[in-house]
Formats: sequence, C-alpha cells, structure tokens
Amino acid sequence: MNPVKVGICGLGTVGGGTFNVLKRNAEEIARRAGRGIEVAQIAARRPNPKCETGSTPITADIFDVANNPEIDVVIELIGGYTLAHELVLKAIENGKHVVTANKALIAVHGNEIFAKAREKGVIVAFEAAVAGGIPVIKAIREGLAANRINWLAGIINGTGNFILTEMREKGRAFADVLKEAQALGYAEADPTFDVEGIDAAHKLTILASIAFGIPLQFDKAYTEGITQLTTADVNYAEALGYRIKHLGVARRTDSGIELRVHPTLIPADRLIANVNGVMNAVMVNGDAAGSTLFYGAGAGMEPTASSVVADLVDVVRAMTADPENRVPHLAFQPDSLSDHPILPIDACESAYYLRIQAKDHPGVLAQVATILSERGINIESIMQMEVEEHDGLVPMILVTHRVLESRIIEAIAALEALDDVVGNVVRIRVEQLN
Ligand code: HSE
Repeated sequence: MNPVKVGICGLGTVGGGTFNVLKRNAEEIARRAGRGIEVAQIAARRPNPKCETGSTPITADIFDVANNPEIDVVIELIGGYTLAHELVLKAIENGKHVVTANKALIAVHGNEIFAKAREKGVIVAFEAAVAGGIPVIKAIREGLAANRINWLAGIINGTGNFILTEMREKGRAFADVLKEAQALGYAEADPTFDVEGIDAAHKLTILASIAFGIPLQFDKAYTEGITQLTTADVNYAEALGYRIKHLGVARRTDSGIELRVHPTLIPADRLIANVNGVMNAVMVNGDAAGSTLFYGAGAGMEPTASSVVADLVDVVRAMTADPENRVPHLAFQPDSLSDHPILPIDACESAYYLRIQAKDHPGVLAQVATILSERGINIESIMQMEVEEHDGLVPMILVTHRVLESRIIEAIAALEALDDVVGNVVRIRVEQLN
C-alpha cells in the first residue's frame, strides 16, 4: 500500500522532533499503523539545525501544505491562535486530517474546528496539546471510558513547576529561574502564559471537556498565576506538611463544574506533590477506577513529538473507517455533550491556607477565630510564628476546612479590617486530592 503523505507545518522544537522521530522509527511506526508514513512537504521559515530534512520539499508558506493535493494529513505545529486557526480550517475544508499540538487553538476554537471536521468527515487529533509526552487524552477519552469522572487535577505547565521546584529546593528567585526555563526551550513564546496560568488553563479546558463531556469553555476557566508566591509561603507550607504546586483542577459538583488554575497546597506525601522540575502529572478520579496518576515529560522536542506521532498512527488506522465509528473528538458523542455549567470561582469550594501579619497584642488570635467561626469556617490547623525582628509583626498561619470561596473572601475582608492585622491576608487554596 502507498504510504500516507503528511505535511509538517512548523519546524521548531516540536516540528523538528516529529520529523526526527518519524524518520528514526519509520519501520516500527509503519508496522503499527499498517502503512508507511512519508513526510511529503514541510513548511518552515528557517531550517532547524537539529533536523536533517534531506530532500523533503520545503516551502515558506504553510498554506502550500494545506492546499497540496498530495497531502493526506496536515500536522500543525506553528502555535498561536490566528494563523494556526486559518491553517487548520483550510486543511479541513480541503478534506485533510489534522494533527496539532496547539492547546491554545483547541481550547479557544476547538468547538468550531471539531464541528467543521465532522462536516467534512476528517479527524483532528490533539494528544500533544496537553502534557507533552503523556498520553493523557487517550487515557481519559478511551482508557477511562467506563467511568463517571469526579475530578482531575494536574501539574500541566512544566515551566511553572520548574520555577516552584527551584524556589523550594534552592531558594532561587522567580525571575532567575524563569530565564533558565526559557533557555531550556520549555517556556511559551510569551512567558506570561506559563506563569499566569493561561497555558495551564488551555490544557485544563481540554481535559475537562473530555472528562465530563462538556463543550470547550476556556473563557470560563478561573486563572491565577504564581508570580505573587513568596519563599516565605513555600516554607510555611512545607512546615505544615504541604507543597505548593500550580495546579489545574476540574471537579464535577451537583451545581456545576469547577474549572480553576491556581497555586495550591497539597499534602507533601501525595505522589503528585513530588512531581518536580519540568515534569507534568495529571491525577484523574473516576467512580470505577478510583484515582489514577499519569506522569511524564510535559514539553520538549521528542516527548511532544511522541504524542504527535501517536496521533498520526491513530489517524492512519482510522482514516478509512466510517467517520461515525471513530472515537469522538471530545470523547462523548457530539450530540450528547452536557450543558452542566462552569461555576464562577466564588461558587467553588476549597480549603484555604491563610497567612495573617498581626501585631503582637493579646486577643488577636481570638478575634481571628471569631471572624472565621461567625462565617462557619472551620479551622483545621493553626501555627503562630515568632515575632519578626524587622517589623515586629507575628505571622499567623491557618489552614481551614473546605468552604465556599465567597465565604472566605468575606472573612478575609473582615480580617484585613482589624486594627491589629497589617497589610493583606495571603490566601492560597488547599486540596487534599483524596
Ligand atoms: N510552556 C509549556 C510548559 C510547554 O512549560 O509546560 C508545553 O505545553
């Protein structure tokens, strides 16, 4: 049988890795796919020194690939929302299957793209969009298909995890670690996407859709970054038996779905709390399987290429199958998606770590406890540190039981209004993940 012809758009880190893996493992991949896979064209603005493309035709225009009648599958690895969006729609219009690593594109335009793909009977595969080399899309979409998924929580941005790990282990400054992550090629073109949680929110939006069978709703995800975290809080969390991770959490509740990315204290003895450096991990809790944990490289040349090529193998196997019998893009049949709403953050429930800077006066602790108890907020643990020499203030650290976000916001306002409380109360959410 003739090989399937693919076109790679973008020859950067992931594009170069994809070309190399396809070439190196060509025989093994063909044995798996049932057909050879040939890179028939590449669109790239400049060569990639880590990639020996030989005689493969190269164009500077990505639309040459989308319009090339020889090409069966377009691999979109250019990133971004605008041009990638046009490219993917053009490829679909021309009846080509698409493989993409573009989380922003899928999270923001996925509903439209999948609808167009269905009309044309083509596949749009996106395993590489979430957690690089970890096959977590396939695991949730297919491996956990028996389950009613209750929640998932993931460390899904390697750059952020690298920064938090270095801050905790080496006491390094935030900006210094970010620079290193950029040099290692993990950070997004705009690193605020990493540190402000936008990249993680893109990935969480995708995971939530395939876990709960809801349309992609990136605009409703709550996003809080790690730029305000201090080493003091990292250390206090440690003293309380927790680690701070930048977590994406999606949870199904009776009133709606929580979809939130924020720094989170998690018990230090959980496996996921020990995922360090640029590594990613996603924990999924289903009613039948219980909790499962998927761990691996969340970015990088070949780990991400591993997912791109796995998608390509899936596409090659399924391209001749009746479109009705393929695995649905968002795991659930498109006419069976649920309209269970995404909850606003103040309707979400979590436990909280609070750090209060108080004057060293008698009765402050009692006032703090009263404010919390009046709002039905139960204190799980409390730690009062020694007076700090530089300002004479006493850091008071509390961990609460689970409570509605709106309730904690109200309590924080009351705490900050106390004469004996100085400055803002630091609030970080706590998840037990059990
Ligand atoms: N900037 C992303 C990260 C790359 O750091 O995880 C992979 O999506």
